[in-house]
Amino acid sequence: MDLSTEATEDTTSLLMKAMDDSAKALPLTSIMPWLRSTKLALMLPGPLGHPFRQLVFWEAQSRKMVDHLIRVIAGGGESTEKNLLAPLLDGVDSFLGRGLTKDELVEEAMGIMFAGSGTTSTTLTYLLYAISRPENAAIQTRLRDEVLSLPVGDTLALRNNLYINAVIKETFRLYPTIISTLPRIVTEEFPIEHMTLPVGTVIGMQNYVHHRDPSVFPHPDLFRPERWLNSTKAMDLSLTPFSVGRRNCIGQNLAWEELYLAVDAVMRGGFTLVVSKEMKSDDMDMEDRFNIAPKSRRLLLKIIPHP
Ligand code: HEM
Repeated sequence: MDLSTEATEDTTSLLMKAMDDSAKALPLTSIMPWLRSTKLALMLPGPLGHPFRQLVFWEAQSRKMVDHLIRVIAGGGESTEKNLLAPLLDGVDSFLGRGLTKDELVEEAMGIMFAGSGTTSTTLTYLLYAISRPENAAIQTRLRDEVLSLPVGDTLALRNNLYINAVIKETFRLYPTIISTLPRIVTEEFPIEHMTLPVGTVIGMQNYVHHRDPSVFPHPDLFRPERWLNSTKAMDLSLTPFSVGRRNCIGQNLAWEELYLAVDAVMRGGFTLVVSKEMKSDDMDMEDRFNIAPKSRRLLLKIIPHP
């Protein structure tokens, strides 16, 4: 997605950093919206106010992007066919029964940016980590062999390769990116086991929990892509990195495609990856910021070129 005509590499990396730094402000502003609306939080000193100041930067960039898009559409020049926001601009929201206001469009832009950036990159980070651990050397070798057995640039062959899919699925299972509870409100009485949940109850599922259910995934803490080569129905139903139902991820096909291409490029690079000895054992622990991030914010890999 274009940020604006003036977007430079520098603005883009500042924006990525702003999104990352804002993570702490998001849960706080949903509990105490006045923190954002009164701008009180911006006055907090140092690291306390920093996430809120970064949120303001992110919002301002998103507003610029929406303004740019509105100008482009009004001018009728550049094609907006591939812009995710374009259909929202002149469409009617089926829930609200009206078009979106400028502020709502800015919120949507922020949502799409957040949902579409850290998620796929985090998945790729954990995939590289998993296959670079010394105990998983054979997995990396097999993944490389599978990629190299396919014609270069054949995305259909990538999508159909069982082992490549198995490695990506196993990454989603162990490191599901969204590990927080995804809340839903019960809209009609809902019987479950020995009780009935009344209307209005907030319920939720957590990928972290059912992705590690030992009755479905034996030895759940081990990274074993092979388990997906003959998956059971229970396994397939329990793998929900993109959530399920009407509010599931609208970007999942794009995410899969990005992951196929990234795996393909890395495995064709002519090198082996090994987790650097500088990494501490808990560096890659998942920090739950709604979208996970490695606790240390770094993954150091040693690149060993092939002769
Ligand atoms: C590995 C990558 C990704 C994962 C694991 C992921 C996961 C999720 C999950 C679990 C939800 C549902 C949240 C909920 O139920 O409340 C969601 C929603 C969403 N995702 Fe993704 N996502 C990924 C990539 C993307 C990409 C690439 C985009 C767009 C460019 C995207 C856009 C969205 C949007 C807009 C929503 C909100 C949908 C709605 O509320 O109706 N996601 N994603």
